[in-house]
Parts: sequence; structure tokens; C-alpha cells
Amino acid sequence: MDLNLKNKIVVITGAAGIRGSIGETMLRQLVEEGAIPAIIDRNARGFEYVKEIQDQGVDAIFCQTNLADPIQIENAIKTIATKYGRIDVVINNVGVNDGAGLDASYEEFMESLKLNLVSYFMIVKHAVPYLKESKGNILNIGSKVALTGQGGTSGYAAAKGGVLGLTREWAVDLIQYSIRVNAIIIAESWTPAYDNWIKTLENGEAKLKAIVEKIPLENRMTTPVEIANTSLFTISNLSSHTTGQFIFCDGGYVHLDRSLLSQ
Ligand SMILES: NC(=O)c1ccc[n+]([C@@H]2O[C@H](COP(=O)([O-])OP(=O)(O)OC[C@H]3O[C@@H](n4cnc5c(N)ncnc54)[C@H](O)[C@@H]3O)[C@@H](O)[C@H]2O)c1
Repeated sequence: MDLNLKNKIVVITGAAGIRGSIGETMLRQLVEEGAIPAIIDRNARGFEYVKEIQDQGVDAIFCQTNLADPIQIENAIKTIATKYGRIDVVINNVGVNDGAGLDASYEEFMESLKLNLVSYFMIVKHAVPYLKESKGNILNIGSKVALTGQGGTSGYAAAKGGVLGLTREWAVDLIQYSIRVNAIIIAESWTPAYDNWIKTLENGEAKLKAIVEKIPLENRMTTPVEIANTSLFTISNLSSHTTGQFIFCDGGYVHLDRSLLSQ
């Protein structure tokens, strides 16, 4: 299916993660579609990824940026806009479930919000003039934690809740410019970050088994490829009348009746 993303300038945050992370997987798929990714991340891996992409004959740019710093975000968007003169899509993907819980300090809680929520606002604030020109669209990556809670992660939960609020708010703000704004909600996806988290637990394997058993569709985790497929479809013209939506790519984890499913 041609998603018609060829030569679209797609800003994507948090896409210099380890191979197999959600951002990196979206990055690969964007390149397959011929889109031009503009990666904003703090990890120098982004330089390596851009070189690989350019070697495949597709242009790309990496802006090494601390997404908790508003000045660096403004500079990154300026750099991208100066190079290409346009922005067609923003994918706010950065997110770290940092465990800033009720025992966290004020500073730790605010740091969590800065990265997981405020960066989404700052990226969009600076990209909006270009999106208005391109009639582009915005995709925010959300988490089930905003709806189900997790425990021990107040900062991340508050931020992801805020991300859903902003998705609806911006859909309303920007509808007059034909800019669509949607969120993909992820529940349990097997990524390098998830693997690392499981390894920190004393009873990691048992915990993982307990989680996987409760994922209704096929009792398995959502793959990053499935999330990338849904994300690319949502940012493409094939989703041209979808805005303000929370799209659950979660194997039914959040909504389906577990008492029926366990039979
Ligand atoms: N994996 C899951 O099950 C799951 C569940 C719900 C939501 N999500 C969401 O999916 C998204 C991607 O998750 P992932 O597991 O692929 O993430 P990841 O941890 O693999 O990647 C995060 C990226 O963010 C970058 N980053 C971290 N701090 C930064 C900073 N201060 N400045 C700039 N860049 C920074 C890292 O370098 C990395 O490239 C996140 O928004 C996450 O909250 C994932």
C-alpha cells in the first residue's frame, strides 16, 4: 500500500534508541516509504542512523538535542526548517518511564514532566507555523499508564495523561488549518527498554509471564513493527479524516473484559 509519504519531512523525537525500539522501528519504516526523517534525540546513535539512511539514497537529518531543554528544542526545529523549508508531520515519541513516584522530589517530578510532556508542547509550538503551511499532522505516542495507572511512576503517568489532553486540545486548536492530531496508545510492547526493565526485577520472568497472559489478543506483546504500521497509517493521507483520536494498538489490553478472556 502506498502511504504517499514520499519526500514528506517527518520530525520524530526519541528515534535514536537502540535497534528494535519503537522510535527506531518507525524510523526504518519511514525510510522504506521514502519519507525524509528529521530525528531529534540526545543519543549520538542518531548520526550513525542518518549515515545508514543516506547510504540507502534517502535524505535525513539528526539534531542531537536534550529534549528536556526548551532552547535546544527550538534550535532543533529551526535547523530542520532551515534545511528543508517545510515540516509535514511531527511524531512525538520520546518517553521514559522513569519511576518518579510519590516519594520523588519536586525536582525529580518536574524533570519527568519536562521530558515526557513539556517536550511534546515545545516541539509542536515551534513546528506549528510549518504544519499550517503544509496542512500536516501530529502524532503523539501515549501509554496505557495514563488510563490504568501503574504505581510508582507519578511523573510519567501525569505526563502521558497530559499527552492525551493535548491531543484533543490541539485537534480542536488546529482543525481550522486542516491539521490532524492523534495519539497512539501502547500497552505492552517488547522493546529493548522493556527488556531492561524486566531484567531489573527480582522475579522478572514470572512478572513477564503474568503480563503476557493478560494480553487478550494471542497472549503476546505488541511488536514495535505493529505500532509503527499503525502509526504510519495514521500520519498518512489514508487516515485523512481521523483527528483527535486515541488509537489503541494494544491487543485489547485496556478495554476487553478479562473475566471472559480467562475462560
Ligand atoms: N514499550 C512499551 O511497552 C511502551 C508502553 C507504553 C508507551 N510506550 C511509549 O513508547 C515510546 C517509545 O518507547 P521505547 O520503549 O521505544 O523507548 P526507548 O527508551 O527505547 O527510547 C527512548 C528514546 O528517547 C531518547 N531520550 C531519552 N531521554 C532523552 C532526552 N532527555 N533528550 C532526548 N532524547 C532522550 C533516548 O535516547 C531514546 O532514543 C515512549 O513514548 C514510551 O513512553 C512504550
